[in-house]
Amino acid sequence: MGAIRVGAAQIRPALGDLEKNRKIIAEFVRLAHERELDLVVFPELSNSGYNFGAKEEAWDSSEEIPQGKTVRLLEQLASEYSMYIVTGINERAENKLYNSAVLVGPEGYIGKYRKVHLFLNEKDFFGRGDRFLVFDTKIARIGIMICFDWIFPEAARSLALQGADIIAHPANLVLPYWQKVAPLRALENRVYIITANRIGVEGDLTFTGKSIIVSPKGEIIAEASRTHEELIYADIDPRIARDKNITSRNNIFADRLLAAYTL
Ligand code: ACM
Repeated sequence: MGAIRVGAAQIRPALGDLEKNRKIIAEFVRLAHERELDLVVFPELSNSGYNFGAKEEAWDSSEEIPQGKTVRLLEQLASEYSMYIVTGINERAENKLYNSAVLVGPEGYIGKYRKVHLFLNEKDFFGRGDRFLVFDTKIARIGIMICFDWIFPEAARSLALQGADIIAHPANLVLPYWQKVAPLRALENRVYIITANRIGVEGDLTFTGKSIIVSPKGEIIAEASRTHEELIYADIDPRIARDKNITSRNNIFADRLLAAYTL
């Protein structure tokens, strides 16, 4: 494990147009390859768009994981370019939908996370996930949370306590707060955070862009515009996230006193 280049693809998925979204994703994976990235993160629900008017619309733009066309395409691209990819997927599993994210690498499909904290009308369309997961890869340990999970500090904490070096954060943010909070979440957990947000408007929702990459010291090391599709990236060293000492006598995990907290 050593220094790697990681990024966020800030895109504008088209609601309900899976073919078009696969083209956009492939185009940005190729760009990430040209820029020599080892890991690229895409927004929440990148295969389908976000603001469904009805359950049937959500259903018609869902895919199985990993058999669906989008994950199969990601497997091909990740293998061809020797890259890790995280992206939000509208997942169909039996008779339910989940707001999920997958991790795919040169070795193929690695795993998925189903969003635990559903935002607004997502509650009409999706089932809830029930656990935060960290995946051990050749480049780093990668944990995943999705968009509104951010407002629950337990999400990032749970991933950090499970050993995540990087939190990959596919998002479709509409509230203006996260970019202020992200440096604190990264600092208090001493992890890298890569937020890939989307842009554009769907019905009454305007997505706020400004994808960011933050270091374990809470520094913003890459930041996107509010309105444009773009790839942002930074060179990082995941080993830095394994050092939880904030002074010579303070370790942010070991110094916790669990009995003092009512959780
Ligand atoms: C959100 O969770 N998509 C705001």
